[in-house]
Amino acid sequence: MAYSDKVLDHYENPRNVGTFDKSDDQVGTGMVGAPACGDVMKLQIRVNEAGIIEDARFKTYGCGSAIASSSLVTEWVKGKTLDEALTIRNTQIAEELALPPVKIHCSILAEDAIKAAVKDYKDKHTG
Ligand code: FES
Ligand code: FES
Repeated sequence: MAYSDKVLDHYENPRNVGTFDKSDDQVGTGMVGAPACGDVMKLQIRVNEAGIIEDARFKTYGCGSAIASSSLVTEWVKGKTLDEALTIRNTQIAEELALPPVKIHCSILAEDAIKAAVKDYKDKHTG
């Protein structure tokens, strides 16, 4: 299938690939899988004392659209509060990357991953 230019750009030059130390108090980690295809996405945020996401990392074992979706989301969350990050919708990701219907679940994976990362961070700080 043909990927859009934006998917190809993120696929060939993925932003923010890597990992943070999961045990770091300022780090939230989200790990999600897509039952439809078995792809797995790990997305991490680093939050500063003011509650702002200052950095993000991802590792995605999956298709080009999943890699592009996670790369895009790591860019979008930077500078956002946790609550702002939770407003990111897969439909925005799919629209930005011009994903075809069969690849919508790849963008859902990215939305779920950021939600899971925020939840992990919040769980660490409300214990
Ligand atoms: Fe093969 Fe996603 S279905 S990588
Ligand atoms: Fe399954 Fe993209 S995440 S095909």
